[in-house]
Amino acid sequence: MSKKFSAPRGTADILPAETHLWQNIERKARKAFRQYNYTEIRTPLFEETGLFQRSLGQTSDVVNKQLLELAANKEEGFALRPEGTAPIVRAYVENSLNRKENISKLFYIGPMLRGERPQKGRLRQFHQIGAEVIGPGAGHPYLDAEVIALNVYLLKSFGLMEFDLKLNTLGTLADKEHFSRILREQLKNKVRGLCEDCRQRYTRNVFRILDCKNKSCRDVILGLRIDHSHLSDESRSYFAKVTQALDNLGVTYKICYDLVRGLDYYTHTVFEISGDSLGSQDALSAGGRYNHLVNQLGGADVPAIGFALGIERVILSLPNEFAAKAEPLQVFVIALDEQYLGKAFKILEILRAGGVSGDMSFQVTSVKSQMRQANKSGALTAIILGEEEEKKDMITLKDMTHGDQKQVQMDELINEIETLCAKAGR
Ligand code: HAM
Repeated sequence: MSKKFSAPRGTADILPAETHLWQNIERKARKAFRQYNYTEIRTPLFEETGLFQRSLGQTSDVVNKQLLELAANKEEGFALRPEGTAPIVRAYVENSLNRKENISKLFYIGPMLRGERPQKGRLRQFHQIGAEVIGPGAGHPYLDAEVIALNVYLLKSFGLMEFDLKLNTLGTLADKEHFSRILREQLKNKVRGLCEDCRQRYTRNVFRILDCKNKSCRDVILGLRIDHSHLSDESRSYFAKVTQALDNLGVTYKICYDLVRGLDYYTHTVFEISGDSLGSQDALSAGGRYNHLVNQLGGADVPAIGFALGIERVILSLPNEFAAKAEPLQVFVIALDEQYLGKAFKILEILRAGGVSGDMSFQVTSVKSQMRQANKSGALTAIILGEEEEKKDMITLKDMTHGDQKQVQMDELINEIETLCAKAGR
């Protein structure tokens, strides 16, 4: 009995018609990272579960509800990576990168996995493009500004022009503690109006309440007085330098006091970028500073900052005209009779070895039908091999854009194809 399988819920195949768009985004990202001097890091798809529990926080949704643990290895405790920051910090510490460079500017592109309830723009396997700046020299407020500017530059280079950048600061660890005391105090008499999750969050991690989407919790949150009164002078001055630097660069942002982010590791600057086309409140990109994570994970006491954007959400937000076309094929080879098929195949290989992209139908059907296939392939030129070509020891080359054709010799073929393709704008 045959059985048809489906892709797991919350995952998606990226089919050939879409991969060029993904490649386009990845190419632009790599170019931008080169411009900003970030180099690529690749880490495993799974890590020890404890790494995520310690860094993202036991009470974060990502650890509490969404961590996908590997069942076969439960006792060893491995989980699929839900994000890139913790694995990169683990790699940074393990490979003593702090001894090799004062500032490590790292970027990554790859899949992340979370056991989410799937909906539009929210998948179980999704892809992030992210950057992390870690090291003894990574504590300068200009680096906060650089990371945010780079994030904005990336989104613009992908073709997104309409988005909002929300910015806030949580301050130092002591300021965060102060902030949570202020929140608890204000919520003290309102706990009964919160959802069940938030009632637990009140004692376990009060910041999480600010992210709750539940209507009754939102009403309570709207009644809170949230400001920067918890900040020390040091944190205030740090944040002022970040905003000044952003102003200088012409990056527009909105300060949102209630932006706290859902992961535990953040201190000081936090930010989120959202576009309006996603419909929900979901962010396109997010990040912030995490000055204690490296130390918490057994490394030196060095500061760090980073961000990650979701490729699927970027694609959902792109205007239609950005459905970029794949690079066209340069030549389609047509054999008019079975006896010329071998020669056609050989010529195709010679052309490919000479750097030309090409294909053929591998079936000798009528010229008309093969021409149709050449058209469908999007090839800019076609070459035809038949009795006449064999007799004259020439090859017919057709310009698929204008329909003209001429006979050329084998040793001129690559040049002629390249010239026609260049004319067609390739
Ligand atoms: P995050 O806010 O959890 O942060 O995720 C960053 C981005 O990943 C989101 O803004 C969104 O675009 C995308 N994303 C997250 N979950 C999903 C999902 N289920 N489906 C589709 N897209 C999703 C982090 O991951 C942090 N590591 C960011 C960071 C880097 N902070 C410092 N450095």
